[in-house]
Amino acid sequence: MRIRGPIKGVSGKLRVTSDKSISHRAVIIGSLAEGRTVVRRWLFSEDTLATLEIFRGLGTRIEVKGDTLIIEGRAFRFEEPADVLDARNSGTTARIVMGVLSTQPFFSVITGDGSLRRRPMGRVVEPLRRMGASIDGREGGDRLPVAVRGGDLEGIDLFNEKSSAQVKTSILLAGLKAKGTTRVVEPVRSRDHTERMLRHFGVELKELTGKEGFEVFLEGGQTPKGSEVLCPGDPSSAAFFVALCLLTGGELLLEEVLVNPTRDGFFRKVKQMGAEVSYQNLREISGEPVADVHVRYSGRLKAVKVRPEEVPSMIDELPLLGVLMALAEGVSEVRGAKELRVKESDRIRALVLNLRSMGAKVEELEDGFLIEGVERLKGARIKTFSDHRIAMAFTIAGLSAEGETVLDDPECVRISYPNFFEDLKKLIRQGS
Ligand code: S3P
Repeated sequence: MRIRGPIKGVSGKLRVTSDKSISHRAVIIGSLAEGRTVVRRWLFSEDTLATLEIFRGLGTRIEVKGDTLIIEGRAFRFEEPADVLDARNSGTTARIVMGVLSTQPFFSVITGDGSLRRRPMGRVVEPLRRMGASIDGREGGDRLPVAVRGGDLEGIDLFNEKSSAQVKTSILLAGLKAKGTTRVVEPVRSRDHTERMLRHFGVELKELTGKEGFEVFLEGGQTPKGSEVLCPGDPSSAAFFVALCLLTGGELLLEEVLVNPTRDGFFRKVKQMGAEVSYQNLREISGEPVADVHVRYSGRLKAVKVRPEEVPSMIDELPLLGVLMALAEGVSEVRGAKELRVKESDRIRALVLNLRSMGAKVEELEDGFLIEGVERLKGARIKTFSDHRIAMAFTIAGLSAEGETVLDDPECVRISYPNFFEDLKKLIRQGS
């Protein structure tokens, strides 16, 4: 795909595509629950469809009506799948589904595409084994395909070292069916959609800040009760349009965006860089805070630092933040973000390589990057590594750069945002 820059700004209103994390969880928790769950404005994307098809493969009846799902919950009584389950490109699917499979007394195998088969699974396999599940896979269970035979589990006390929400979710869902208490402690609070949704489905859990970090507890033997969920707009998707406005000019209103404080680190960080971003009409939808996000161009951004404890709240936005840093005044720094190396691609490598080919001054660190801002980037050939967030971040870079930018695999945006390019076209000012 060819992108011509620089454009002359953006304007208008948009309701971005629905939140991916919440859409995954609505299918998973709705399937575990007792009774019917109705999910409105569900995100249809490659990743979330992988989750939906896996739960169908486990015997869940899921009816699709427009963008609404009607799920007949199985109250934790799934069927042994007749074939291998395919999480495709989705780490969230693979890791959370393993927690669910661990509660089931049957044999199942889960795999994924080439990228997912390179990503670490030991972070969920090891604690699930400790809870009593029998799990085997490549590299001792650290790589897919993984085979699970679940059954009677015991509650666990887990230190979630990487503050991974996928790990926390996998263990909490397994804990619902385990004997006794399950406790997950994390140094920094990771996204808490699972906790909020479980409460919304009538599950009791406790949360507190202790000496080691943030703690979540639940008692085993609880079955969520079917409920209604409305999926809000995805802040990780909204971030691309906010960035484009801040780089090229204009004003945007992004409607019904999730602004959960464990997710909105990007919006807070760009404000520190001098951006004019505000939340309007703050409200609650299905237990989650939602607002209309207003952004207005306010001149060149200033360099900023991202500290390790800030990383979880903006983990998926860091490649995009890197693009903004490449054009900000001064030297910016991101540390404590080693997890970026084991996402859909090595996102530190992908960012550094592509920014350099656009003329940016970047230094690669093991756990982050240093960037000295320049006045303008120049168009270049971008290697997406078939990573949706790299493709979208460099579309934004290309639209603000001088000359032509070429993406090698624009199709990969289907993983989280199938209408990304159509939505972009709606906002780009005419005549540019
Ligand atoms: C997600 C958690 C994050 C994030 C991913 C979605 C989730 O991963 O990067 O895109 O929905 O729980 P980790 O849990 O590995 O940090």
